[in-house]
Amino acid sequence: MTDPQLALTERVQQALAAAFGAEYSDADPLIRPSQFADYQANVAMSLSKRLRRAPREVAQEIAAHLTGETAGAQGELFPGTVEVSGPGFLNLTLSDEWIATQAAEILADPRSGVAPAGSPQTIVIDYSAPNAAKEMHVGHLRTTIVGDALVRVHEHLGNKVIRQNHLGDWGTPFGMLIEHLLDIGEKAAVAQLEAGEGNAYYQAARAKFDGDPEFNARARARVVTLQAEEPETMRLWHIFMDATVRYFNKVYTQLNMRLTDDDIAGESMYNHMLAQVCDELQERGIAVISDGALCVFPPGYTGREGQPLPFMIRKSDGGYGYATTDMATIRYRVQDLKADRILYVIGATQALHMSMLFDSARMAGWLPDHVSAEHVQIGSVLGSDGKMFKTRSGKSIKLLDLLDEAESRAAAVLAERAYDEATRTEIAHAVGMGAVKYADLSVSHDSEYVFDFDRMLALTGNTGPYLQYATARIRSVFRKGGIDPAEATGPIVLGHPAERALALQLLGFARAVQEMAEWSMPHKLANYLFETASAFTTFYENCPVLKDDVDPATRASRLALCALTLRVLETGLDLLGVPVPERM
Ligand code: ARG
Repeated sequence: MTDPQLALTERVQQALAAAFGAEYSDADPLIRPSQFADYQANVAMSLSKRLRRAPREVAQEIAAHLTGETAGAQGELFPGTVEVSGPGFLNLTLSDEWIATQAAEILADPRSGVAPAGSPQTIVIDYSAPNAAKEMHVGHLRTTIVGDALVRVHEHLGNKVIRQNHLGDWGTPFGMLIEHLLDIGEKAAVAQLEAGEGNAYYQAARAKFDGDPEFNARARARVVTLQAEEPETMRLWHIFMDATVRYFNKVYTQLNMRLTDDDIAGESMYNHMLAQVCDELQERGIAVISDGALCVFPPGYTGREGQPLPFMIRKSDGGYGYATTDMATIRYRVQDLKADRILYVIGATQALHMSMLFDSARMAGWLPDHVSAEHVQIGSVLGSDGKMFKTRSGKSIKLLDLLDEAESRAAAVLAERAYDEATRTEIAHAVGMGAVKYADLSVSHDSEYVFDFDRMLALTGNTGPYLQYATARIRSVFRKGGIDPAEATGPIVLGHPAERALALQLLGFARAVQEMAEWSMPHKLANYLFETASAFTTFYENCPVLKDDVDPATRASRLALCALTLRVLETGLDLLGVPVPERM
């Protein structure tokens, strides 16, 4: 409802239609925030060519319709002042009353102006998806965190969200992994996997596979019984997977992710569909045999020498791969889960695979036009050396250790605060996890960034802890005043420029949420929240709230602004999955 930029867009379009005719009603008014007014509309410049008139004259005519000061105008369209400047810019300044009324409306709305989706969609979100028997790495951490934020925002908008954790839990390596389990004994294997030592486990199995012919033969035989889902092999596979998933769950729990065991839909789930997927695609001529392998050739993909690139769904040895499984998966998501939209929150390095998958699935008719499939590309997380993030010794990082380190460093940052031990631990947990999550969410999801504890834990700048602190500080205003934020209902009156700036900023909340959902861009919301917290800081430095000499009406208005800021920050951070400690 209250997104001011959207409301203004509509009004300027109404003015365009009134001034120049209905065919101009959908011209883009080109409204931007401006340093000379609240907004600037540059539409007169672009329209002047179409109308063959001077841009300034066009601007004046639009202005007259916006203010209602011309014959045939529909009354006052724009709630504020309109000025024409320069060669034909429209400077738009909203009236304080309009901003105040809109802010009060959002405050009175339990959804803070964020309207639920008009026609809710079924949205399948594929995220996290670590590989069993390999340590879950920071890349998976990022896809988990971004995916969780998208889940939260879509649930908030009333969409039906289906979480899918596409675990790497199948394929030829499992032959050797199961044989290794028999070698070291179930108990030892389970203990190692539960502790997150999947990498060491994998490497030990791999060393024997490469160096010990007897083991190698056993492992190969085991792949055959695994493919056939033979009961004893499946029992061992389950032991392996259950222990591995218990470790993943520790990470999810520490991060307070919405992922549960019910959301696991790993590669193994599609095993029994693969033969049929290949047969059907071959029979229909969508896949063809090329060098012994079964391949789809979606148009537009060429290799270095200009040869068409294959999307290989069956290798020449008859084995299936990642592409086969993903074809079965996309069909399942459309036909069984009835997805309207599928989000793949996966590393940017898989862009080619994803693009060929979507095109191949469209060729097969398994991804109809009305279903949108989107690769939410996740950029790599780098170490300070600019390479993939690893520990100093060069080994990959154990995620639980990393999260623990975030918490202990957060505790150190908060060391001077006089809290008892339990409170300190609780705050350190929230701040540590908030810092790690916000670092992933505040940059565009497809850009790389350098993992840096000092920066993400800083109490100033665009960080999780800064936003948590801003939120906790507003709560303390209410605590000190002995006031329940729910009772701070205004009325809102805007006097000081910092009050006005804060109120105007607060009107943008709904738009920030919608943008995040529409474009799968959590950083849009994160940046909005950061700007909101900054506007609040300026307000709070300039506008006393609880001081004795503040008159009751001003105090009520300022408390209402505090309450609305608090609600926007709390709701927004919750949508990002960033926890807010009660005090900090
Ligand atoms: N397990 C894969 C990896 O670690 C990610 C799977 C993503 N999902 C999918 N449907 N391909 O790279």
